[in-house]
Amino acid sequence: MKAWEIQSPGGIDSLAITEHPTPKPDFGQVCVRIMASSINNRDLSTILNPQVRNVPWGRVPNSDAAGEVVSVGEGVSRFGVGDRVAGCFFGDWTSGPISSQIMSSALGGPQDGVLAEEVVFFESGLVMIPDYLSWQQAATLPCAALTAWRALVESGGVKAGDNVLLLGTGGVSLFALQFAKMHGARVILTSSSDEKLQKASALGADQVINYRKEPHWNEAVLEHTRGLGVDHVVEVGGSGTLAKSIDSTRVGGHIAFIGVLDTSELDITGLMRKSIRLQGMYVGSRSLFLEMNNALDFHKISPVIDRTFTFDQAPAAYQYMQQARHFGKIVISME
Ligand SMILES: NC(=O)c1ccc[n+]([C@@H]2O[C@H](COP(=O)([O-])OP(=O)(O)OC[C@H]3O[C@@H](n4cnc5c(N)ncnc54)[C@H](OP(=O)(O)O)[C@@H]3O)[C@@H](O)[C@H]2O)c1
Repeated sequence: MKAWEIQSPGGIDSLAITEHPTPKPDFGQVCVRIMASSINNRDLSTILNPQVRNVPWGRVPNSDAAGEVVSVGEGVSRFGVGDRVAGCFFGDWTSGPISSQIMSSALGGPQDGVLAEEVVFFESGLVMIPDYLSWQQAATLPCAALTAWRALVESGGVKAGDNVLLLGTGGVSLFALQFAKMHGARVILTSSSDEKLQKASALGADQVINYRKEPHWNEAVLEHTRGLGVDHVVEVGGSGTLAKSIDSTRVGGHIAFIGVLDTSELDITGLMRKSIRLQGMYVGSRSLFLEMNNALDFHKISPVIDRTFTFDQAPAAYQYMQQARHFGKIVISME
């Protein structure tokens, strides 16, 4: 069977398709024929800077995939041949708080990832996917969707009438938009592109701001919230946006700190002055994934997929993400 590998520090050009032995499930393991894998910004940065993440040469990239169970090892009780499943970002995080041991079970980083025709998982690192989702849609869930769910629902406790600020129109932010609307919250969303802002409005964003045209977008957020600020920020920008996110947040509000897309200088005095709760977070557990899938199934939310590439076109998919023209998720399909 074929798998993509990161073979040297040469960035996207260092990716190569290689032939691997067909994997066999051991005790407690499940072999999955991968039908689709989605790309996260973290997968791109792992390929661009493998040494920073201590990734060895030959590492298979990508954390997110959905597929069909083709064989199960002894002792497997939750899955059978033909089941439709998705892998968990952390193969070893069933529930409870994160630990350093769990961190070392992340796919497509410390462990081989899923950009392969067949992958073996422990059954505790898999979930069933809702029937209404296509393979491509289900492959978008393990990282971006679960992180957005954790940010707003688990950590934030978002509720009807809350104000939510979202930055940009990437995978995490658009899932956060859909989850915020699912809970009856009001969404203010920023983007570099008017065309993307129009699409975000069509998806339910209540107020939109072009952060290129309005570099002091925090002032616009305050205007939209009668000077009070938002209850929640899903912060994917990092140090380059955090000070403005803090300024945009109400006294006693919540910022889920998720990404570092912009590393400019940072002044965080307002964090203390406004008693804001800043919570760093890294994806979520299997039990939270099951909870999210339940809600997705009930509300029949459709993940936003910008573009789908074939398995052979994987390098072009990463190049497309690098151009940042996407709205939502980029998927590699094996169907
Ligand atoms: N901690 C975690 O568990 C976790 C999980 C998933 C992702 N992440 C991180 O979260 C970040 C987003 O991930 P993703 O997969 O959603 O990325 P993505 O799909 O590539 O989305 C990136 C988008 O962010 C927007 N953006 C970039 N710079 C911005 C800035 N300075 N201000 C506002 N928006 C900006 C742009 O949207 P526009 O084109 O609309 O401007 C861009 O298209 C990455 O840093 C990623 O590593 C962390």
